[in-house]
Amino acid sequence: MKVVKSPAEMKNLSMTLQRAGSSVALVPTMGALHKGHLSLLERANDQCDCSVMSIFVNPVQFGPKEDFNKYPRPFEADCELAEKAGCDYVFAPSADDMYPANYTTYVNVEHISETLCGAARPGHFRGVTTVVLKLFNIVNPQVAVFGQKDAQQVLVIKRMVRDLNLSVNIDVAPIFRETDGLATSSRNVYLTSDERQGAPCMYRGLKAAENLFTAGEHSAKVLSDAVRTSIRQTSSLEIEYVEIADTLQIRPVETVLSSALIAVACRTKQSNTRLIDNIVIGGSL
Ligand code: PAJ
Repeated sequence: MKVVKSPAEMKNLSMTLQRAGSSVALVPTMGALHKGHLSLLERANDQCDCSVMSIFVNPVQFGPKEDFNKYPRPFEADCELAEKAGCDYVFAPSADDMYPANYTTYVNVEHISETLCGAARPGHFRGVTTVVLKLFNIVNPQVAVFGQKDAQQVLVIKRMVRDLNLSVNIDVAPIFRETDGLATSSRNVYLTSDERQGAPCMYRGLKAAENLFTAGEHSAKVLSDAVRTSIRQTSSLEIEYVEIADTLQIRPVETVLSSALIAVACRTKQSNTRLIDNIVIGGSL
């Protein structure tokens, strides 16, 4: 596995690989790799000849009061994990190379970036789409793999790809979970033991809503109440939102006709960690 730091070198490398007939898959990450990230790499390797995993803690997607400075950066361990999982290239640029002095260009996907996590984290998706478009332009992959864990991120990126006529295929990987159902996340390391113990109530709530839907319940209020009831059983979490929305515009629905995204965000009370999870009922992203 080769570690590439320079965007220009990455661009040349990818061009050379593709001229020689190899297809390239990109897995964008911010590092602090866990099994969820590695499952994305496996999908990348299944679909293309070469895999590139980017590791870059992107400053422009963090708000001023968010955890940019304390975000874990175990770079050496990440490289070992990536190599063991069959990664061909780690692309790890510096912030100065990605955002040189006088950087002023941003990509904003309107409306669907403003609901759910976008409402709680203004400017977050503008930062995500900007860095992801830059990564697409540097690596020029045939396939880019993203996790359903960040469902809104997937929908925003798919919209950017469609709206800007990009030719990359977006592949969506299922959510990798701990054995008790908690969605695996780089931020789970912030949790106190109490919070860690209570956190799976988010997934239990989502499953309860899914079971109600399968049994014929279509009222979004009843379904979201089931999620809230489950989360309220744990005193260590505070609900930020529970939303049931369509998977195209991410607008709240009152009745789930065919498919819908049930998305939840909570904040833990002691460590003030933001946790998200979701389930798509009656369909997929
Ligand atoms: P990060 O949080 O590091 O996540 C990188 C990728 O891993 C994302 O596509 C995310 O959805 C996926 N992922 C995280 N946890 C997962 C899990 N438990 N199961 C499956 N996939 C999971 O998302 C970002 O970084 C950034 O916003 C990024 C796209 C890299 C842009 O900076």
